[in-house]
Amino acid sequence: MEVIVRKTTGDAVNLTAQLIADAICAKPRFNLGLATGGTMEAVYARIAALNAEKKVSFAKVTTFNLDEYIGLPPEDVNSYRYYMNFHLFDHVDINKKNTHLPDGMAKDEEAEGIRYEKAIKKAGGLDLQLLGIGHDGHIGFNEPMSSLTGRTRSKCLTPNTLEVNGKYFNPPESMPKRAFTMGVGTILDARSIIMLITGASKADIAAQALEGPLCSMVTGSAVQLHRNAVVILDEAAAAKLTLKDYYNFIWENEPKWDKYRHF
Ligand code: PGA
Repeated sequence: MEVIVRKTTGDAVNLTAQLIADAICAKPRFNLGLATGGTMEAVYARIAALNAEKKVSFAKVTTFNLDEYIGLPPEDVNSYRYYMNFHLFDHVDINKKNTHLPDGMAKDEEAEGIRYEKAIKKAGGLDLQLLGIGHDGHIGFNEPMSSLTGRTRSKCLTPNTLEVNGKYFNPPESMPKRAFTMGVGTILDARSIIMLITGASKADIAAQALEGPLCSMVTGSAVQLHRNAVVILDEAAAAKLTLKDYYNFIWENEPKWDKYRHF
């Protein structure tokens, strides 16, 4: 795991988008794991801009999202399918047939989890998984105490997640209480991971996930297990990290970051 701290949210976002674009350019037939949430909106706007500038093409990219609310059809404005179309897929040259999310309306939940796992496997596994982190430490909707080897399944959300995400729903109480999510095990199977954490409200959970113990109470801590994970933070989210000087030293001295130092 490598940790990169950039001064502004914009720099952290633009670096994240550039790393994703460069990975796709290096292997056009690319399987990309995607995340939703407020943090990612700016990342997708930047990726769409890079696509418009012809700096990256999604023509041969297949995507798999981390999660979807149970009970929301794709056309519901709060479904993650709607979010993805709105923020990314409608703005890039991707074939929507190659974009996958769990089916929030699936009747047989267990079968849906198995189907999703099989689809990822059949595609050849994920080349890169993009992650945010929730205020309760979740990645995807792997809420506290989720197995660190879990696979795609339905999951009951925490009161904290209902409070944080309820603001998108009108009324907030109409937010689904459950969701499908890739498991932590599914996420760790990705060949690479980029996690983006921004904003002062994430400083505590970022320190717990990155420098605290590996623990199912904070499923985001599982990134520590991955051999090819890069975590990008802005200064505000990095405020409580103790090894920031070391992370900056690596950023300044590792040759592979030479071409990214303008971010
Ligand atoms: P956020 O969501 O970007 O809206 O904070 C992150 C998450 O819940 O994973």
